[in-house]
Amino acid sequence: MNFKEEFLDKLKTAKKLVFFTGAGISAESGIATFRGKDGIWNKMKPEELANFNAFMKNPNLVWEWYQHRRQIVHNTEPNAGHFAIASLEEYYDVTVVTQNIDNLHRRAGSKKIFELHGNIERNYCIDCKTFYELQELEKTEGVPHCKKCGGLIRPDVVWFGEFLPQDQFRGGENAAEQSDICFVVGTSAVVYPAAYIPTSAKRAGSYIVEINIEPTELTNSADYSIFGKSGEILPEILNEVRRLKAKNSN
Ligand code: OAD
Ligand code: ZN
Repeated sequence: MNFKEEFLDKLKTAKKLVFFTGAGISAESGIATFRGKDGIWNKMKPEELANFNAFMKNPNLVWEWYQHRRQIVHNTEPNAGHFAIASLEEYYDVTVVTQNIDNLHRRAGSKKIFELHGNIERNYCIDCKTFYELQELEKTEGVPHCKKCGGLIRPDVVWFGEFLPQDQFRGGENAAEQSDICFVVGTSAVVYPAAYIPTSAKRAGSYIVEINIEPTELTNSADYSIFGKSGEILPEILNEVRRLKAKNSN
């Protein structure tokens, strides 16, 4: 693939990279995205599953749905896109700011990760806020209860109408503002406040590179849009970086 010259120049001089990622980066691992033809939100109603009132009304149903999604995540592997991002740490200061809850960046080896929407493997008690890793929970029919206070245990993910974990959002926004290049990968960029991340990066002077299979809300304001699958484009970028760095050291 022939990348734009301006982008190659940026890759040569950049020190800090941010990858702002969404469901699309995990699509090639076999995890469905939310929007679009086969999107989860076409088949399921977010208001019946991904909000606190729904959980209170029918905790078992919501818990079972997350157990199902955990099963999917558990049975899949990071793909070439996740691995390429992790490998770029050899050459740059890399921060991942993800909207995904699937842990695949961590499993691929990325070190600095901000999780804007939580993590499906973590849970906490809605009453006393004690955290539980998935393995600590006994296998129960339906939703488990807190060992300390008996409260209901919920997944540590951000539901509709809830605030983002502020330390994660601030950390992600800071990294984006300080980045030389901010890659926006596999996200429709329509869910706020997460979608402020690339906007903040751009305002602070970062170079915005979008990688998506189709144009998005962000395409007009991106400095460079690369259309294709992230599992194919990201490894090509890694190869390009390897070539550039090898040349520089000669
Ligand atoms: P979406 O489902 O809204 O968007 C997925 C994006 O990935 C789309 O723009 C696709 O075109 C693109 N895409 C699909 N396959 C791809 C591939 N192989 N390579 C590159 N791009 C590809 O998912 P998000 O933007 O992540 O929030 O959605 C944001 C938030 O909405 C989620 O975090 C979730 C959801 O409601 C919460 O659960 C709080
Ligand atoms: Zn408790």
